[in-house]
Amino acid sequence: MAEKSFKYVIVGGGVSAGYAAREFAKEGVKPGELAIISKEAVAPYERPALSKAYLFPESPARLPGFHVCVGSGGERLLPEWYKENGIELILSTEIVKADLAGKTLVSAAGETFKYEILIIATGSTVIKLTDFGVQGADAKNIFYLREIDDADKLVEAIKAKKNGTAVIVGGGYIGLELGAALRINNLDVSMVYPEPWCMPRLFTSGIAAFYEGYYANKGIKIIKGTVATGFSTNANGEVTEVKLKDGRVLEADIVVVGVGGRPLTTLFKGQVEEEKGGIKTDAFFKTSVPDVYAVGDVATFPLKLYNENRRVEHVDHSRKSAEQAVKAIKASEEGKSVEEYDYLPYFYSRSFDLAWQFYGDNVGDTVLFGDNNPESPKPKFGSYWIKDGKVVGAFLEGGNPEENKAIAKVARVQPPVESLDLLKNEGLAFASKI
Ligand code: FDA
Ligand code: NAD
Repeated sequence: MAEKSFKYVIVGGGVSAGYAAREFAKEGVKPGELAIISKEAVAPYERPALSKAYLFPESPARLPGFHVCVGSGGERLLPEWYKENGIELILSTEIVKADLAGKTLVSAAGETFKYEILIIATGSTVIKLTDFGVQGADAKNIFYLREIDDADKLVEAIKAKKNGTAVIVGGGYIGLELGAALRINNLDVSMVYPEPWCMPRLFTSGIAAFYEGYYANKGIKIIKGTVATGFSTNANGEVTEVKLKDGRVLEADIVVVGVGGRPLTTLFKGQVEEEKGGIKTDAFFKTSVPDVYAVGDVATFPLKLYNENRRVEHVDHSRKSAEQAVKAIKASEEGKSVEEYDYLPYFYSRSFDLAWQFYGDNVGDTVLFGDNNPESPKPKFGSYWIKDGKVVGAFLEGGNPEENKAIAKVARVQPPVESLDLLKNEGLAFASKI
């Protein structure tokens, strides 16, 4: 079987890989030095599009429209770009074995890849209901969404089940974005999740009440405090019903499951130090193994601002961590160093006409401000998180670019607050004056 050698190999061809490739090109990589090995059949693209514009009934986003780095206002790296820059894109190739001591990767087809420096950028995979043995969870038309192939299958099902019934299992990012996307496609949508409110890992009950009210006004039925325990199917093996733990049964032509992600670290188990479910790195994304870096969803890195190691599953960090790792690799080759990664967590989501941004840390007391009436023609509201007398996190729905910049600055600067009541009254004006 063929063996190929590269100076640098990136395993995984998602968001981090694309931004790393751009950074390598900027720093002057030589033709033939860099390879990206990806299980997917397409060049790196902006994954967030899959749960948003990719699913629009009118003028949906399609490749090559959303290859990286358009999501952050950068140039679009088409497959030709990799060729022109002498970067080898090895697609539809799954790595099934990694030997970090021997600096070797092996693909499912048996090809061997040697490297001097490895960047692990394998991202996350979905947690499946079959993982918990939920009865009937392998039925047809039960979908998960991680890669473009998953999105294509869902698009086909939406067409096939026109005006049908959809059940969304999960009330996190996928749940909220897909609930909206399927409703826009005129399906009758119900959402089911176990917690007392949606997106509990970030939203306060006050924030969630707005989105739940808004979704209800769009005709989405929300069922909280229970889980899917089984599925019925027809003679073709297609899902027809979702059975809930509380005894209710929901009709379904399509089910979308978003019950969380799991970082893809299995290839490297036992070979590299792990922490908090990810591969442990330093502030330059170097792992415990020499010449091996980890970026994006898989990295547990020092979050300097909070003096704590954390893993972040969001696109802004996947881009920035990739750039940081490549800068550090290139600098160290010249005996130089770069500054430590100093990340300000940034998460966002969009659905229907809504768009929110969050910066910082969601710990401590909270203060809700603004107009969070789901029936308002132009709702604009937010929340601050306050810890040890300082604002450490800020959320804003409906902000303009300047206002979003202001909440980012608050989360970075962490200004002191005199009283929570004052903060509530001042609302967004507090951030705008920092
Ligand atoms: P990413 O998942 O992008 O790439 C990993 C790549 O590695 C994939 O191409 C995969 O096939 C490949 N791979 C894995 N194992 C392999 C193997 N053994 N061999 C070869 N290749 C392998 N975030 C946000 O901030 N805002 C948003 O709106 C969204 N929206 C969003 C929508 C959807 C549908 C998803 C799934 C995710 C988001 N995210 C998001 C999260 C964001 O997309 C995510 O954090 C980044 O894509 C992570 O980038 P990585 O490069 O780490 O992994
Ligand atoms: P998530 O962690 O955001 O939400 C998981 C949700 O699953 C929980 O909130 C809970 O309501 C629900 N849940 C857990 N067990 C359940 C069960 N047995 N039955 C019903 N519900 C259950 O994960 P996700 O929404 O699946 O997203 C997957 C990944 O994709 C994450 O890494 C996320 O960051 C990423 N993503 C991000 C965005 C964004 O940042 N805008 C958008 C889409 C996806």
